[in-house]
Amino acid sequence: MPVDSLITNHYTHGSLLHSIRDGVKALGKTVDTIHIDDLGPVDEFHIGGRIATQSFLDQLDIDAIHHVLDVGCGLGGSSRFAANRYGCRVTGVDLTQEYVETGKTLCAWVGLASQVTLDVADATTMSYQSDSFDRAFMMHVGMNIDDKERLASELYRVIRPGGRIGIYDIMRIEDGDLAFPVPWASEPAGSAVASPAAYKDALEGAGFSIIAQRNRRDFSLDFFAQLLARTAGAGGPPALGLHILMGSTAPVKLKNMMENISRNLVAPVEIIAQKAA
Ligand SMILES: C[S@@+](CC[C@H](N)C(=O)[O-])C[C@H]1O[C@@H](n2cnc3c(N)ncnc32)[C@H](O)[C@@H]1O
Repeated sequence: MPVDSLITNHYTHGSLLHSIRDGVKALGKTVDTIHIDDLGPVDEFHIGGRIATQSFLDQLDIDAIHHVLDVGCGLGGSSRFAANRYGCRVTGVDLTQEYVETGKTLCAWVGLASQVTLDVADATTMSYQSDSFDRAFMMHVGMNIDDKERLASELYRVIRPGGRIGIYDIMRIEDGDLAFPVPWASEPAGSAVASPAAYKDALEGAGFSIIAQRNRRDFSLDFFAQLLARTAGAGGPPALGLHILMGSTAPVKLKNMMENISRNLVAPVEIIAQKAA
């Protein structure tokens, strides 16, 4: 199967919007009363959810006049958060059509449809003009993209001189076999986890300068411990949560992810880089 299909098959749910509508109802809200913060637990598909997004994006110095690119935006949760927090315009791009279509509906629900645009495309071959974005970020996407050099050069092309990018991905720390399935891949063939050094080489090779790097291992293990405690305390997952995106294999994917991080095989790592002015 072509890699793109392997990835979109992995993420495609089939009736995602319907399931999110059910969750909204279970919360006691409607599509007219739902708030962007209510959606955070289901539309931020990365370790640490909204807390991680805020801490990560605050390092990019995003301004209201900026046009920001969210690469591999999924449902566009981080795009909406950025638009709402910084007042900027955001374009999100993602390979999985169902995520983009669902994300557009969520933008309309929370009144951000004119500030946030979501497109279906491959991050390694985007149709945007060169130098067209002031900032770009990518959260938990590079684990699905084998060709980091091509990804880095495409990011470099679309960012304007002086622009900044942030990557928050699960990266390889020590050698050893990963337990599968994980949230980003059902099997090893869909996974392209690489080390922070490989990311840095690709980014520097494209022309970026690295300005910061942070390993979020301890934060992620705390996050999982709290998530498990909350779920046990409530007798099950919340009305809106990542279990909706991950389906029936959500518990084993989370267990494997925690095990892979606990064994220090992988960790969520942030890299911030800049294109020379
Ligand atoms: C784990 S989700 C993260 C989504 C989003 N960044 C977030 O944090 O909520 C990974 C996303 O990457 C997207 N993706 C994987 N490979 C891609 C590619 N080559 N181009 C664009 N999107 C891609 C998938 O479709 C999926 O939506």
